Amino acid sequence: MRIQLSTDQESLKEAKIIAIPVFINESPKFENQLIKDFLKDNPKFGAPNEIQLLFNAEQSFLLVGVGEKDKFDFETCQNFGGTVSKYLIDRFKDATLIPPESDKLASDVVVYALVLGAEIAFHDPSTRFKTGKEPTKLGGLQIFLEKARGEDKIAIKKASVVSLGINMARLHGDLPPNEATPAYFVETAKKIAHDFKLKITVIDEKMAQKKGMGAFAAVAKGSDEPSFVVALEYTGNARSKDKYGLIGKGLTFDSGGISIKPSSGMHEMKYDMCGAANVLGLMQIIGELKPRVNVSAVLALTENLPSGKALKPGDIIKSYSGKTVETINTDAEGRLVLMDALTYAQKDLNATKLIDLATLTGAMVVALGDKITGVFTNNKEFSEKLVKLGETVGEKFWQMPLGEEYKDMIKSDIADITNIGHGGSSPSTAGSITAAKFIETVVEETTPWIHLDIAGTAWDLKPTPYSAPGATGVGIKTLVELILQ
Ligand code: BES
Ligand code: MN
Ligand code: ZN
Repeated sequence: MRIQLSTDQESLKEAKIIAIPVFINESPKFENQLIKDFLKDNPKFGAPNEIQLLFNAEQSFLLVGVGEKDKFDFETCQNFGGTVSKYLIDRFKDATLIPPESDKLASDVVVYALVLGAEIAFHDPSTRFKTGKEPTKLGGLQIFLEKARGEDKIAIKKASVVSLGINMARLHGDLPPNEATPAYFVETAKKIAHDFKLKITVIDEKMAQKKGMGAFAAVAKGSDEPSFVVALEYTGNARSKDKYGLIGKGLTFDSGGISIKPSSGMHEMKYDMCGAANVLGLMQIIGELKPRVNVSAVLALTENLPSGKALKPGDIIKSYSGKTVETINTDAEGRLVLMDALTYAQKDLNATKLIDLATLTGAMVVALGDKITGVFTNNKEFSEKLVKLGETVGEKFWQMPLGEEYKDMIKSDIADITNIGHGGSSPSTAGSITAAKFIETVVEETTPWIHLDIAGTAWDLKPTPYSAPGATGVGIKTLVELILQ
């Protein structure tokens, strides 16, 4: 979509359609008799995302409710942008939009939020595989401001870049497992590396095995699809030793392996690569925005399938960290691939701050549902910063404990650790914590590390005002803020 700022009162008069935000009990800043009459007859209009089209011979006006003025926030603003864009798609080619005015958010933040909402809503991957579905048509959006400052222009540019990254991540997340194979992800990583001159390293299964990444290789060997560990490196500050390491779980399909999952709902495990998809989105955004920091990414890309060659319950494997793992349940594969990816980020890429994104445990969905992401860390200061930044861009995170009390739940009698928690009433007892504690075993104590269990938030099958059902790109907005700081 083309998005432009406009300060031209004349162009406002010529616009075919103008989208206007309406706060409850407030008259909109845009003066027009039609609107006045409508609001006089409908004094309660203005509930979030409530819409009403008004028109005369010359112009149409799309009134969109944005709720109570003192409850206005980033999320309301994204919803406003999304509601407008969803309404306009297929109906209008160009539109003008008036941003809500609020003393709670700066105007450039409002512009950023509403453009994100409009661009994310514009992308609906659910039509991709429907025969005969026409691509959507909305071509351009003018954002009208009485005076445009430099910050507002920067906000539009940033929103365009970030939403492109989010939409790319969502597209990858939503693709079915027969298309979004590990090799498909490698192709995208190569494209990003080429476009933004990032260093890329592609490690195939054989090389991974040879390198000693026995935990990754153990998961990979059950599948006939070639598996890969991919590293992307962006250097924004060559003089600094500081380097973010972003690690993404990329299980392009997780059947559970020999510890196979029940078939009902198994198809949803096509989303088990959303961690990797979101990290790819982030690297694209970083490549475009070129912040003065160093960021490396590691994607662990494979399927988890049962076969004659597959990992078995009871197998003991040796990870890249040197730690041996008794694999009691082959469905706890995410932590296996992550442990080697995290070791790679530390050992080979020298990352000094680690953040992993993984659809890791069903227990996380039970605990926090599909709107709040669980955060585990060995460094509270680091995680509190992330949680706070999340609040500024409408993403919810909740700090979870890495309870020392549960350390013994991953003890093994015959190897260094087990890959599932035991000693509780079931493997899911404190399931998200024991999974995080497993990963913690390969993180250097002095290296700040955040683990985001996005099992509940990586995809959402209910549409929101600015999103279609499917992958959400969770974490991208917040991590962009963290990295840009
Ligand atoms: N990919 C799943 C976790 C998952 C479940 C993500 C539901 C999203 C929705 C992961 O690989 C897994 O299977 N975890 C097991 C671990 C168990 C065997 C200890 C789980 O959570 O059931
Ligand atoms: Mn699994
Ligand atoms: Zn999994």
